[in-house]
Amino acid sequence: MEWGMQNRINRLFQKDGKALFLPIDHGYFQGPTHCLERPGETIKPILQYADGLMLTRGILRNCVDPAIEKPIIMRVSGAVSVVGEDLANESVVTSIQEIIRLNASAVSMSCFVGSKYENKSLTNLAKLVDECEDYGIPVMAVCAVGKELEKREARYLALAARIVAEIGARVVKTYYCKENFHKIIDGCPVPVVIAGGPKTDTQREVFDFVYDGMQQGAAGVNLGRNIWQTEYPVASIRAIQAIIHKGFTAQEAEDLYNQIIAGKA
Ligand code: 5RP
Repeated sequence: MEWGMQNRINRLFQKDGKALFLPIDHGYFQGPTHCLERPGETIKPILQYADGLMLTRGILRNCVDPAIEKPIIMRVSGAVSVVGEDLANESVVTSIQEIIRLNASAVSMSCFVGSKYENKSLTNLAKLVDECEDYGIPVMAVCAVGKELEKREARYLALAARIVAEIGARVVKTYYCKENFHKIIDGCPVPVVIAGGPKTDTQREVFDFVYDGMQQGAAGVNLGRNIWQTEYPVASIRAIQAIIHKGFTAQEAEDLYNQIIAGKA
């Protein structure tokens, strides 16, 4: 692997090979998402615990201090909305010049395998990979399900993850699934990170799926709402960080979470 590509990947994945990415890109299709109305304020207390920040160029430019040391994963697909016709009908909305100008360490785009726009989506991925590889910039493919949340099962996710890796994604983001999550990992030749999805009822559910996903071979997480939409975002991200980088079990993470809330850690 070329030096630039390796260097960027090493900035994202820590020495243990694991990563905690913090996505705040939700506004790109759903507007001012709850708790993300002022993204700069949302990330202030929690960014220090993340290994990378995922967002669009607009939020980066307007809401994030350029002195930031955390690597940026720039979302470059969009031009759709929750009130539009089909979330899968995305385009790439950021040029390679802009990606370089804004010093992104990686880019991400959604890929809608099995949708009406499957070919467009995957062709967009192929073009983006070609452009980014020229400059040593890794592409993270987001295996997206749009509004079809029932697609979050191993058979579909393993298929989607493998296809985007075959096209050249350096990192794949998929959802976690309770049954056979390891099949996604086993069939995917590049690191897989777990997306969070809508906020869960309890914090423990998050610790459980992050722990189980890591045990089954995930390289990390890309967790947004289950951190910054929770009652205690700092406690939440610190507990998740402990699972990812310190090998905590879900129970140990929950204990740490409660200690932080009680002001004892
Ligand atoms: C949206 C995204 C988000 O980054 C992703 O969904 C992660 O955020 P959350 O944990 O809130 O689901 O890619 O398509």
